[in-house]
Amino acid sequence: VVYKIFIYLIKICFEFYICVCVCVCAGNVFVSFIGSEDRTPKKKFSEVQKERREQAQRTVLIHCPNKISEKKFLKYLSQHGPISHHFFYESFGLYAVVEFCQKESVTSLQNVTRTPSMGTEAAIPFKSRFFNLKLKNPSSQTSEKSSIPCSNHSPPSSKKLSELLCYAESVDDQLNTLLKEFQLTEEDIKLRYLTCSLIEDLAAAYFQDCTVRPFGSSVNSFGKLGCDLDMFLDLDEIGKLNTSKTSGNFLMEFQVKNVPSERIATQKILSVIGECLDHFGPGCVGVQKILNARCPLVRFSHQASGFQCDLTTNNRIALKSSELLYMYGALDSRVRALVFSIRCWARAHSLTSSIPGSWITNFSLTMMVIFFLQRRSPPILPTLDYLKTLADAEDKCIIEGHNCTFIRDLNRIKPSGNTETLESLLKEFFEYFGNFAFNKNSINIRQGREQNKPECSPLHIQNPFETSLNISKNVNQSQLQKFVDLARESAWILSQEDKDRPSPSSNQPWGLAMLLQPSVVSSVSLAKKKRRKPASERIKNLLESIKSHSPENDTDTNGKRTVSTQA
Ligand code: GTP
Ligand code: MG
Repeated sequence: VVYKIFIYLIKICFEFYICVCVCVCAGNVFVSFIGSEDRTPKKKFSEVQKERREQAQRTVLIHCPNKISEKKFLKYLSQHGPISHHFFYESFGLYAVVEFCQKESVTSLQNVTRTPSMGTEAAIPFKSRFFNLKLKNPSSQTSEKSSIPCSNHSPPSSKKLSELLCYAESVDDQLNTLLKEFQLTEEDIKLRYLTCSLIEDLAAAYFQDCTVRPFGSSVNSFGKLGCDLDMFLDLDEIGKLNTSKTSGNFLMEFQVKNVPSERIATQKILSVIGECLDHFGPGCVGVQKILNARCPLVRFSHQASGFQCDLTTNNRIALKSSELLYMYGALDSRVRALVFSIRCWARAHSLTSSIPGSWITNFSLTMMVIFFLQRRSPPILPTLDYLKTLADAEDKCIIEGHNCTFIRDLNRIKPSGNTETLESLLKEFFEYFGNFAFNKNSINIRQGREQNKPECSPLHIQNPFETSLNISKNVNQSQLQKFVDLARESAWILSQEDKDRPSPSSNQPWGLAMLLQPSVVSSVSLAKKKRRKPASERIKNLLESIKSHSPENDTDTNGKRTVSTQA
């Protein structure tokens, strides 16, 4: 009897333990996936930027021999000072990113580094923070055969992604898996800031005290692994330093060259920086100067990091847009999961492209998701106008005459009480935009409501700061129609999903996995529509179609579904 009681008690304890574990896990999932419940203090965008920039300035990039002992490598570099962080990655060779604790260590390393002698070729001497490490005695290192763990910067293959999504437990789980697999890793973010910092060193040869700042999806929290690196040369700091140092009756100004317009000044600066990158920039290849674009830029590949870079100048409004998107992304964790799935969905169906054209851009898609989340009841995201009312004096920001003011302290914004699931939001997103009156209404995240279109572009999404501009002016009617058709089909697929979801072990695409299959959205939905009809209805339809030979009637018998229209 005592033995039985003992076993019984152990059983109860074990069940209690399992129960506690499940609750804790469920709690964690809840905390991490329902953003409105996440109370951990969040950093301001400017704080993140400052911290990352400072880290990048004490970081070096080293091209390493393939066989290298990590221990010896770190010991060798530690002669110049303590190392706070390091990682290796592969990109046509092995590279190491090494972050020292102090900036002085970088100078110390540069002081013992030589310019290579190139044999028949000539090297242009340039003391950068991008090094090439050679082994004096290769055999002593290779004998250790230590394989170096490399961080991975590539998104999963479509096969791997499909598998992961098929094995997920719910559509919500699928969206969160997609986010986890595609979001930029800590190492990838560090490498992006380091690349900007290396370009800044080059630009500083002409413009002392300039800053090269990353913006766009590299910093707004919506970047997918492999996205381009947008950066701008910020020359504003140079002007600021001068004005604060005036005293007495005199005002000292630099002698400068005058040009007829701001645009020409931008073109001249970018032209010179482009030449500089092309001729002297270690690892900068394929430099293209696109100076006649609306926003002049220099495009190049940074070979060592593998990033496709777009360099512009004085693009402060775009940086402010990045800050705003970062805020929206951090306010509720459902936002990023939804944006990532919509971006991947659009890419899978060729609605977006890396080549400029009449396609919808990722930036526009993100605005559409934000707008949709502002329209939920209760809203998941606040309007930009509301964020402006919460701003204090320090948040005030006017750029080129545009009011870009909004609260920047995320912790002062009340979380939303909306508890809709990601599955429901995804379906509703497709329903909403599948039925949106694009012909007369404009999308406006400043006010969070539809407005009459001020011009006749097929798609009108108001630029949040330069409010007279349309960020999707490039989109033509056929691309918009393609978006609408795919949105409707996707809404329909998701609405049918609940009825016959395959078991995870069947390895059949379902939910988000189905939506991401390029040809499946239209063909599967058609097949399903046919499959789902009750036999009696099919026979009735068949008889009707035999009776009538009119093509219109044939279309009707295909059972074209109707989509509810929203006001
Ligand atoms: P991906 O690069 O596609 O991942 O997204 P992205 O947000 O970085 O877009 P993109 O590289 O095309 O543009 C970089 C940034 O420039 C965006 O995040 C916006 O801040 C800004 N931007 C892009 N397109 C427009 C536009 O049409 N109008 C305005 N005002 N800003 C834009
Ligand atoms: Mg970009």
